[in-house]
Amino acid sequence: MTNLVGLLESLSNAFGPPGCEDEVRNTLRKELEEYADETRVDKLGNIFFYKHGKQGLPRVMLAAHMDEVGFIVTFIDNKGFLRFQTVGGITSTVIPGQTILLRGTKGDIEGLVGTKPPHLMKEEKRNKAVAIEELFIDVGASNPKEAEQKGIEIGTTGVFNVKFAELGEGYVKGKALDDRAGCTVLAEVFKALKDSPYNIVAVGTVQEEMGLRGARTAAWQVDPDYALALEGTFAADVPGFSPETESSKLREGPVVTILDQSVIAHPTVLKTLIKVGKEYAIPFQFKKVPRGGTDSGAIHLTKAGIPSGTVAVPCRYIHGPASIAHVDDVKNTVRLVTEFVKAISEKSM
Ligand code: CO
Repeated sequence: MTNLVGLLESLSNAFGPPGCEDEVRNTLRKELEEYADETRVDKLGNIFFYKHGKQGLPRVMLAAHMDEVGFIVTFIDNKGFLRFQTVGGITSTVIPGQTILLRGTKGDIEGLVGTKPPHLMKEEKRNKAVAIEELFIDVGASNPKEAEQKGIEIGTTGVFNVKFAELGEGYVKGKALDDRAGCTVLAEVFKALKDSPYNIVAVGTVQEEMGLRGARTAAWQVDPDYALALEGTFAADVPGFSPETESSKLREGPVVTILDQSVIAHPTVLKTLIKVGKEYAIPFQFKKVPRGGTDSGAIHLTKAGIPSGTVAVPCRYIHGPASIAHVDDVKNTVRLVTEFVKAISEKSM
């Protein structure tokens, strides 16, 4: 068992672009297997931790996606530069100049996304974004053969090469806090409820960033009575945003979704979240910009429909190289979700 920040650190540092979630899955397994009555992995790679409680109580599914936005090599040109596609929503504005960690067949390799020196740029191009098609990764190879000798091939995947760091005063910086913050909450809630009589299925899902894919098949298998997606959502409490456009703020607690582009929170789920937040004086905030989607978008449409909602840790700069979050928000998300599971499980069906 690791402490909360230690777990967030190992999860954040783990390599896990969509479809390559193994390292994240292993980290979760190591953390939770001893607390689960049953652990299994499905064919797509979703991992399920079951806690079998009292019969007659509802089955509650908690889902956090293990994947992070990343890169995939699509072509190696004759000078040895790698052309790539992004997997998950990354804008080209945040990529130039970044170091990318590529997982090659012979181990991990660092590559640099090349940039043109300003000296060689036309005046009108200097402050403009570059299209992804014009970008390339330089791994220090002068032809395709040299790149291949380093273990790079078409289909090699990569992530932003950023190591987790504590910034002091409870602030942390790391890659993939969307959704390793949610994975941390998933683990902590599952551990906190180990001696409870409730039926809980904690799921680490795959390929959320590609369109909520793992959650779809996971929910079908679990067929829960209620579900909650645990996320890292965008906070924009930074220069250039007004209170209604910043969506969420650090240090104001978990972000409860009323609606986004994938789901309208089910009234029972939403009311229960608000009720326990007030009852236990857990700070929480509502997501103010209904953009994006989460695993609950796929989950709630499963089979005959599953009452679902989303609770997220506010994180600045998600889908970029690194995010900043606050540990108090992670802790308060754990508290809110734990109380939610208790309250919804005690509800008469
Ligand atoms: Co996410």
